[in-house]
Amino acid sequence: MIQIAIMGLGTVGTGVAKVVAENRRQIERKLGEPLEVKTILVRRFKDGPCRQLMTDNFEKIEKDGDIRVVVETIGGVGAAYEYTRRCLEAGKHVVTANKQLVAEHGCELLELARRKNVNYLFEASVGGGIPILHPLTQCMAANRIDEVYGILNGTTNYILTRMVRTGAFFSDALREAQAKGYAEADPTADVQGIDAGRKICILADLAFGQQIDPDAVPMEGIAKLSLRDVKIAKRAGYRVKLLGRAVRLPGGGRTAYVAPHLIPEENPIANVEDVFNAVMVRGNATGEVMFYGRGAGELPTASACVADVMECLQASPRREEIGWSPETGGFEDPLELKTRHYFRIEGSLTDAAMAFGQVEVLSEDGETAFLTEPVSGLDAERQSRLLNVLACMRVLEG
Ligand code: HSE
Repeated sequence: MIQIAIMGLGTVGTGVAKVVAENRRQIERKLGEPLEVKTILVRRFKDGPCRQLMTDNFEKIEKDGDIRVVVETIGGVGAAYEYTRRCLEAGKHVVTANKQLVAEHGCELLELARRKNVNYLFEASVGGGIPILHPLTQCMAANRIDEVYGILNGTTNYILTRMVRTGAFFSDALREAQAKGYAEADPTADVQGIDAGRKICILADLAFGQQIDPDAVPMEGIAKLSLRDVKIAKRAGYRVKLLGRAVRLPGGGRTAYVAPHLIPEENPIANVEDVFNAVMVRGNATGEVMFYGRGAGELPTASACVADVMECLQASPRREEIGWSPETGGFEDPLELKTRHYFRIEGSLTDAAMAFGQVEVLSEDGETAFLTEPVSGLDAERQSRLLNVLACMRVLEG
């Protein structure tokens, strides 16, 4: 019998307990022994099938030599950080879905795990149930990764889909996403692009092998997005999606950011709807590889956690190294990145052309919506300074 603990019984922690119970036969067949949740750390005791396993005393997990793997689903960086360190120090493997902790302290926690000869695995921290980190670091290991981008937040993709398809109000769509267990405890992290920002940091850390400071990454959400721009874009053959993007720059630097983009409808990412996420990875040998699946929710995210638990137990003593250096140099402001830009201005085509030269007009009816030629974010800002800008977004090429 292999015993594990869960810290935190929110959406994902509850899902982990369910997957371990409901899939116990398959799991046992693969591990060669039954897997059992022995202890669950909670802040407040709740009634339910796991009531007997609950404790509010972390030391019961830390000091229990029978518990070999701990699943941290507390979230945030307070108690989650301290308890993760202490579990690793105690020689236990730790598995997590906590993207904030991984984005901010993953490199350091991996180093601690390495010293203690245990694993710190976090597949569930990006893309919910989509296998992305393991394929990125292992299956694509022979590549130089030049770019990673994707729809990394299920809540905002769900909200956008509902608003566009059924004309739902933002607040109603958000409430639905919360009821379905997609949103963070504080959904402003979803809406403001911070959740997607943490995920693109983790992807960039692993893709480029160097730490990205989340504070250096501009994160814009969907709060300012207008349905008017979504409609104009759609008529012109584009979809509007919130993308996280990390790019290796021609001079050798790297950059990352989160912002709504216009995506040509022939790009498969343009048609990713509801809670689904998709991540595109461009390797210099593979070209583009896309990963697609449910990016949030109880069972998909728990599936990734439990698979990591099984990996900890099977990869003896540890999984191969993930190359992630604490070095933060070489990060450049994404304003350096050149793309076409979408603008909607209060003004005429002549105003647009005076600022940007040749432009492609998408709509003209008092306001003018247009696409520029590729320009850096800095130039887009500088050249539009004299315009009355109502909306501005980058366009994803390809
Ligand atoms: N709130 C997150 C989302 C959960 O909506 O994508 C999964 O990380």
